[in-house]
Amino acid sequence: MYVSNKVKDLPPYLFSRFQKRKEELKAIGMDVIDLGIGAPDLPTPKFIMEKLCEEVQNPINHRYSPYDGSKEFREAVAYFYQSHYGVELDPETEVLTLIGSKEGIANLIQAAINPGDTVLIPDPGYPVYKTAVHLAGGNSAYLPLDLQNGYVPMYDQVSEQDKQDAKLMFLNYPGNPTAATVELNTFLEAITYGRQNNIAVIHDAAYDLVTFDGYKSPSILQVPNAKEVAVEFGSLSKSFNMTGWRIGYVVGNKELIKALHTYKSNIDTSQFLAIQKAAALALRSDLSDVKKHNEIFKARMERMYQGLLEAGFQVEKPRGSIFIWPKIPRGYTSAEFSEKLLEEAGVIVTPGTAFGPSGEGYIRISLSVELERIDEVIRRMKDFTSKGVSLS
Ligand SMILES: Cc1ncc(COP(=O)(O)O)c(C=O)c1O
Repeated sequence: MYVSNKVKDLPPYLFSRFQKRKEELKAIGMDVIDLGIGAPDLPTPKFIMEKLCEEVQNPINHRYSPYDGSKEFREAVAYFYQSHYGVELDPETEVLTLIGSKEGIANLIQAAINPGDTVLIPDPGYPVYKTAVHLAGGNSAYLPLDLQNGYVPMYDQVSEQDKQDAKLMFLNYPGNPTAATVELNTFLEAITYGRQNNIAVIHDAAYDLVTFDGYKSPSILQVPNAKEVAVEFGSLSKSFNMTGWRIGYVVGNKELIKALHTYKSNIDTSQFLAIQKAAALALRSDLSDVKKHNEIFKARMERMYQGLLEAGFQVEKPRGSIFIWPKIPRGYTSAEFSEKLLEEAGVIVTPGTAFGPSGEGYIRISLSVELERIDEVIRRMKDFTSKGVSLS
């Protein structure tokens, strides 16, 4: 009676079933390893924590933040874009502070579309795109991604109708869940497609700095004149291990940023100033902590990648993100395989279908546990597959 239809109609939270079962299995003594969590397990770098402790004690930071975030944080974002990508941003009109990029993504959809409008979303992709479109009364249309095409958008698979009705298009590289990475050319194509079809291009760069082996993830704003049709979401959650701090930003197209600013100023008053000041220091740092953190994730990724190959899985070696995305044995759905893996091996992974229909046949493994636990996972996976799970 008290719940709106749009909330009632949200898909059930897939992870809760696994979490419930995890608790039951732990209660009977099973050592469950959870690789379903999409967040880094490492601590926030010390200099950021120290800056927070200092700023927390200054009463000036106890007041409301400006609605669009502190000037200091917005200027630090502009500094980061200039120094890291060579992209110029006006911190007054082209940068907006967010309470984590998740709320920004969901609120941008609210601010930009009308009920009935279409939004193109990657399939497989971060589930928030679809649920946020639903909450805004829009329709999502899948932009299929697959391994054969290097997980770049397959525009030819978007129907003429969806193309005409689409107002926004989401992209995400390095990708959750696929760990796919791209070169600037993919963004150039997206901007061209957006411009030709009057579709704003939204790039979710949540894993922008989490990369390995010298690979540098491009910004969509490096495409000349991209700001005319594009915005990019960024977050300190993954690069600086700050998931719980809730701090991110959106940069690029002024019109979209203004709409989001107006929308948000009616529902929140930005982030705690002390957090914004600590985050500004992070963005102005030499990124050496990010590099150290990436070395740890790379070591885990290499170990997991080798282990999966030895256990007979087909898998691509990621150049970024905190995930690895192996193919599962034939004869199982992703959900069946994930359930069996939990029941028989005590390992939690996320079924690919949690990210859209094209995730069928895959599982997402998060690298957010220590190397020794990864070794244990591999041992269990090998044991599991040798018991007759066909990987052909
Ligand atoms: C692809 C992607 N985008 C955005 C987010 C949201 O990150 P945050 O709200 O912590 O900035 C996540 C978090 O898992 C993610 O995986």
